[in-house]
Amino acid sequence: MSDPVSPRFPRLLVTGGAGFIGSCFVRDRLARRDGSTIVVLDKMTYAGNRANLAAVESDPEQAARLRFVQGDIADAGTVAPLLAEVDAVVNFAAESHVDRSILDPEAFLRTDVMGVHVLLEACRAERARTEKGERARAPRLLQVSTDEVYGSIETGENREDDRLEPRSPYSAAKAAGELLVNSYFVTYGLDAVVTRGSNTYGPFHHPEKLIPLFITNAIDDLELPLYGDGLQRRDWLYVSDHAGAIGHVLDHGHGGEVYNVPAANERTNRQVVAELLNRLDKPWSLVRRVADRPGHDRRYAMDGSKLAALGWTNKVPFEQGLATTVEWYQKNQDWWRSIKSGDWDAYYNRQYGARLAGSQEAGR
Ligand code: NAD
Ligand code: TYD
Repeated sequence: MSDPVSPRFPRLLVTGGAGFIGSCFVRDRLARRDGSTIVVLDKMTYAGNRANLAAVESDPEQAARLRFVQGDIADAGTVAPLLAEVDAVVNFAAESHVDRSILDPEAFLRTDVMGVHVLLEACRAERARTEKGERARAPRLLQVSTDEVYGSIETGENREDDRLEPRSPYSAAKAAGELLVNSYFVTYGLDAVVTRGSNTYGPFHHPEKLIPLFITNAIDDLELPLYGDGLQRRDWLYVSDHAGAIGHVLDHGHGGEVYNVPAANERTNRQVVAELLNRLDKPWSLVRRVADRPGHDRRYAMDGSKLAALGWTNKVPFEQGLATTVEWYQKNQDWWRSIKSGDWDAYYNRQYGARLAGSQEAGR
């Protein structure tokens, strides 16, 4: 069963493809059964999980079109030969959690900045091979970035040409990564595009992040640590919509351009928590008001007209996406219980121990 339209980039390198959004991209792309192939390069940090690719690896037709390589995007010796084999690279690989970037920023610089640099250098070398006639077309690079590079916005929506004002080590590293991408487009003529996605949620989301942490804690009747007044606002994007938008920009985006990927589902953290407790039939009394995240961005919001003009529309409304997500965590307890074991307690105590000890009732 082949798609009648052959894909623009039939051979992809997907870095960070064992993580949350990257694995969704891989699953959805291979499920098209269009003959295209994917090499996943993933370092398998605490956030990488081979089980996220199980659906693909247990399907013989899809498994035959997937190759998994464990390795670091910041390792030039690993990256260069892989780039030589593909038509495009989609870079999901990153340290992705703001709270961990506050505890330990260095890994963020290594992967989110130096790792991007190494990928760019490999693309540049492939472009040079194209010029020498050693390959037909230079690879395209899609850098997966985030709305957090704009920093906090009190009112209105950020557009792609707004100033970047990142305020956490995570968002500063992501901003540096995408600025490098733009510099390689301008200086070396690399074919590169950038997406800036908003807060993403859905199945296979690591339980360190707000929605899966609160769902899994609530299932176990554990306290839910809400930072500060809980009135921070995020725009929640369902994972398959984010992965789909990235694929759309890969296939149709114009080189050198940045595309916002918003959801138009803005909610306060309190609203999100109330909705998920309601779905789980658990009481608000589980919610604890804890010490705020230092430098906590109050609100993210982006204008999506550029991506809409490229022909992309999201498919999953928040209520539907949240219902699917809650149900997935209820049914897939083995998946998250194995993550919430081992090193998890050390992280949880470091991040929340003192906070929960000094917590108050959150009040509705
Ligand atoms: P994640 O933390 O779930 O997954 C990251 C993956 O990258 C993991 O599989 C990890 O093992 C891998 N990785 C980390 N360092 C690596 C390295 N040096 N080399 C190779 N692999 C490495 O992250 P996610 O939530 O899926 O986010 C994916 C991308 O999307 C990131 O670039 C992130 O900045 C961006 N993003 C995420 C969100 C969100 O809400 N989750 C929103 C916007 C943008
Ligand atoms: P998070 O999922 O970490 O995403 P980001 O910081 O990238 O937006 O957090 C989403 C929001 O939830 C953010 O305002 C911080 C808040 N939050 C809590 O209140 N408690 C928590 O334990 C976590 C992880 C997040």
